[in-house]
Parts: sequence; C-alpha cells; structure tokens
Amino acid sequence: MPMLDPPAERLNMSSKLIIFDTTLRDGEQSPGASMTRDEKLRIARQLERLRVDVIEAGFAAASNGDFEAVKAIAAAIKESTVCSLARANDRDIARAGEALQGAASARIHTFIATSELHMEKKLRMTREQVLEQARLSVRFARSLCGDVEFSPEDGYRSDPDFLCRVLEAVIAEGATTVNIPDTVGYAVPELYGEFIRMLRERVPNADKAVWSVHCHNDLGMAVANSLAGVKIGGARQVECTINGLGERAGNCSLEEVVMAVRTRRDYYGLTLGIDTTQILAASRMVSQTTGFVVQPNKAVVGANAFAHASGIHQDGVLKARDTYEIMRAEDVGWAANKIVLGKLSGRNAFKQRLQELGVQMESEAEINAAFARFKDLADRKAEIFDEDIIALVSDESVTAAVEHYRLLALTQHSAMGERPHAAVAFSAGAVEHHAESDGNGPVDASLKAIESRVQSGAEMMLYSVNAITSGSTESQGEVTVRLQHGGRVVNGVGADPDIVVASAKAYLAALNKLHSNTDRVAAQG
Ligand code: KIV
Ligand code: ZN
Repeated sequence: MPMLDPPAERLNMSSKLIIFDTTLRDGEQSPGASMTRDEKLRIARQLERLRVDVIEAGFAAASNGDFEAVKAIAAAIKESTVCSLARANDRDIARAGEALQGAASARIHTFIATSELHMEKKLRMTREQVLEQARLSVRFARSLCGDVEFSPEDGYRSDPDFLCRVLEAVIAEGATTVNIPDTVGYAVPELYGEFIRMLRERVPNADKAVWSVHCHNDLGMAVANSLAGVKIGGARQVECTINGLGERAGNCSLEEVVMAVRTRRDYYGLTLGIDTTQILAASRMVSQTTGFVVQPNKAVVGANAFAHASGIHQDGVLKARDTYEIMRAEDVGWAANKIVLGKLSGRNAFKQRLQELGVQMESEAEINAAFARFKDLADRKAEIFDEDIIALVSDESVTAAVEHYRLLALTQHSAMGERPHAAVAFSAGAVEHHAESDGNGPVDASLKAIESRVQSGAEMMLYSVNAITSGSTESQGEVTVRLQHGGRVVNGVGADPDIVVASAKAYLAALNKLHSNTDRVAAQG
C-alpha cells in the first residue's frame, strides 16, 4: 500500500472538487440495498469509468463478506483511490488496512461520534475519552496508510468548541481529509455552509487537510447542503452516492452535485475529474442491482429528465436547444441508450459488449452461460438494449454460494372472471420442488406456490414492476421484491419479458439473500 503523502494541491484550497463516492458503503446501508461481492465489483468498475476520485468500497471489519469485497475492489481498481471505513479502534483500522493492501491508491476512513447525544447515549464515553480515541486511531491509521480521513459522526450537531479540539488533534496526527457529516440530515444550506467555514477558520491547522462534506437527505436538502459546504464553507470534497442511495431518505446524490458544479461553473468556479457521460450507466447499474427504482422526474437520471412533453417546450427545443435545456442529455450518457444486439449477434459481439459495459466475467464458462441466457432472451425479444444485458448478467452474477433457490419452470393460467392458478418448479440446493397455488392474480398465485414449499415466513414489504427499457410493451419487466424476516430486510430483483416469471425470479432472489446469512456489524449505531 502506498505510504506517500497525498499530493500537495489536495491539501489546500485547490480549484478541484474531489468526488468521494460512498454508494458501496453508506448507500449499501440502506435496508434492502445489500450487494454481493461481484455486484460491488461491477459497480466499482463503473465508478472508475466515471472517474470518481475516491471509491468508498465498504466497511471491511463489518463481516467477512465486506472484507472480501473491499479487498477485491482494491485489487481491481487502478484509477480511483479505494477507501474502507473503520470505526475508531485498532481492530477495525487494521482490518481496513489489510483489505486495502493490494490497492494502487488507498485511504482509511475512520470515524467516531462527537455530539453530546451520541457520546453519552450511544458510546457512553466522555469528551476526553472520545478525543483520545480519535487521536490514537488516526495515529494508528497513518502508520498503515498515507491517506487517512477522519469523520466526527453527527458532527453537525456537535458542540463547535469540542469539535474544533477534535479536528485540530486529528489533523496534528496526520489526517489528510476531515469530513463533517450531517449524519441525521438536520442541516439547512446557509447554516451548514457557515458551520464548515467557522470550523475552517477556528481550527489552527485547518490548511493541512482537505475539508469534506457528507450530508444526508432527511429534509431533502443533502445536495443543497453539500453545495453550500463547498461554496460558503470552502470544502473541497463532497461525499455522495449514485441516485442518492442511502439509509432513510438517502445521501447527497452524485449526479446532481456533479451536474450542478459543472453546469454552474460560472458560480462555483471549480473543476471536476468526472466523465459525466458515464453517469446514466452508473445510475442504471445501481438501480438494477439494488432494485431501488429511479423516479421518472429525478434530476439528471430520471426517465423524464430530458423529455419535453409540452408543445411549447418541444417547439422551443427544436428551434434552439438552450431555450429550455441547461444540460445536454448526451453529456450525462443518454445517447448511449441504443439497440446493441439482436437474435443474430454472435458470442464475440456479446463478449465485446460486456467488456464495453465493464462487465468482467471470471471464466469462459461464465461467458458461455451468460451467452446462452442472452440467446434465450433474444429469441423472445427482438431488440436487446444495454439495460437488458446488465439485467441478464445481474441474474447471472448470483454466485453459487448465494443461489440456493433457482427457478426451473413456471406455468400459469388466468382468464377474466376465473381465479388464476400457477404451477412452479424450482430447485432448493440439490432438491427439486413442484408447487401449485391459486391467487388473486397470476403473480400472487406464483409467489404463493413458492412460499407454500419454502415456508420462509417472510413479510413482503414492497413489490414493484418496471419496464427496463422505456417506451414499449416489448420491454423486459424488472420486478423488485422486498422481504423482511428476523430483523433483516432484503431486495430481490428479477427480469424477464414475462412479468410473472420476473416476479418469481425476484422472489427467489430475495429468498436467496435471506438464506445467505450475512451477519454484519452496523457502521453507525
Ligand atoms: O453519516 C455519517 O455520519 C457517516 C459517517 C460514518 C461518515 O456515514
Ligand atoms: Zn452517512
């Protein structure tokens, strides 16, 4: 792991805004958004293509699965710094350092809560104990890695005098980035911006570290707060996630913050390293992998973000684009949404498209299996889009260890005025099950048939169907099922031109996640 100090221009008021993506860590903490190692690796590769400066790959000490995911990402990513979160204790920090061993550029991100509420009620520690633990943790992290970030959790609600003491101490110990989280999304833009400015003015060694903002979206102001932290406060790193994924109302959305800074360069006066044409691909990949659907009117990446439906607008855009458009759709990757393959496409074309989409398959056998599924899909669907391929390999990426349940066959009968009936065959490990059931509709009948055998007892919290490619009923249906059982919440995603089949796949995918017992420590709380 490189032990060099970070480049000098990152330590002061550079005009570069560092984009720190935490989709794979804070984003993944959202109930139901947990991802497998391979899914995380695929998203990390897309984040690298997007040219984010730092990828927070996970929280290595949370579980063996998290450790392996951070390790795999550290080994694969060459262009972005790879970071692991660690609580402020030696075990977590050592584990993060170990997972990051293979990284071309590594960062350890350690944190401890500093608000009275968190110190007293959660940590049961005094101010002096927290200060000492923060200091020792950063010292230890710096002995392992030249690039160390420190976060005072619930920083925005902390006593400013105490916070200044903590930040001065950790910078003196060598923290190269200090990040001020609004952990609970309580801030408002002007106050948050002023808070960052006040801290930077009062901490004597403030210029020795990069200042970073980390905002949650509980009041819908995460992007506005982050931008105020940059503009008013002088922060030069923004922590954000693709699609604003994250616990509760989510984190600051990467695509919105990036496009705001780029589109309003006249106001922010900052440069970015991001390749914005990769934004849409990243958004779709995260949405398809987690099952967290993007709302149509979401800024930048929503299906309607560049759709001009009103006649007046259409007329204006046709005459001169900038009458109603402040960004070009192609600059965020919308033009890339094209038909790529069809029934007659061969294995080489398929393999090449996988590479272009950043999907890396470990073996020829895996490519062959994915190609067989592609052919099967192409027989049923004339035009195959990039999104179809991503959905197809998302199914494929479920590792043998996780894929306990697999759909083998499904038939269903429904007619107006009759009660629908479904017969489902699926495997559970080496055992093949056949089950039948009635239901309110064919989807209900199919899932009831599966449940009659599995008897998971899981409660369904969400069922949603989405067209993978918009605009026609020829699209594949993408179904998300969210199940809750024994205190765990999981999402399963399934895609197929037949939405009943997609639903059964999604249900089994969710059961697979419940079946793979991934116990992990929570980063916060
Ligand atoms: O929101 C938060 O406080 C965090 C820290 C762990 C950085 O995610
Ligand atoms: Zn957070």
